[in-house]
Amino acid sequence: MAGLDGLIVASPANPTGTMLDAGELRALSEACRVADAALISDEIYHGIGYDRRAVSALEVTDDVYVVNSFSKYFSMTGWRVGWMVVPPDHVRQVERLAQNMFICAPHASQALALAAMDCTEELNGHLDVYARNRTVLLDGLARAGLTRIAPADGAFYVYADVSHLTDDALALSQEILADAGVAVTPGLDFDPHAGHHWLRFSYAQGAEAIAEGTARLVRFFEARR
Ligand SMILES: Cc1ncc(COP(=O)(O)O)c(C=O)c1O
Repeated sequence: MAGLDGLIVASPANPTGTMLDAGELRALSEACRVADAALISDEIYHGIGYDRRAVSALEVTDDVYVVNSFSKYFSMTGWRVGWMVVPPDHVRQVERLAQNMFICAPHASQALALAAMDCTEELNGHLDVYARNRTVLLDGLARAGLTRIAPADGAFYVYADVSHLTDDALALSQEILADAGVAVTPGLDFDPHAGHHWLRFSYAQGAEAIAEGTARLVRFFEARR
């Protein structure tokens, strides 16, 4: 980690949905301390987990910048409202940077975010839909022969290794869009090196759309065998 100023980690992650446990976060925090590098924990998918709870970096260290937003669990994508937890001795520096980029979050977004914090029942209803979608998609991908999948612990993504099918995930995603009418994301959007062997599937949609999309994917991959 020599020469590193900072490390950004997201857990649950995009594109994989994979989560870090407390031990892994502690090890990263310790490595950053030794390297004198800042640790930035992007916790935007917290609250969207399946078999276990996401651990916050603040549970293992106070020496961390935690970034969060209303875009995911609170379903307020596009409203541009989020928050940061900053080590007390860095608050002033972050305030100086922030006030040069924006004055404040839009008032309407702030009012909505406040209201969203009282919508637990509705928001947890979304989690039930994601959980069902995840099962439908994982079952469908297995039937389609896509079984090399990163642990889909949280968020609403499945990241699948398609190296047995192609060296060009971008072309494969274009083929899927043209033939099956399903939009999937080539791994290249996230990883310029290994991304040409991976596809990301998002299941942040209604149950009907995910069931239909999955059925189309199964037919597409079966026809290609
Ligand atoms: C890991 C991660 N961080 C941050 C963001 C940005 O979210 P926003 O700018 O909507 O708050 C995203 C959006 O997909 C994300 O996946």
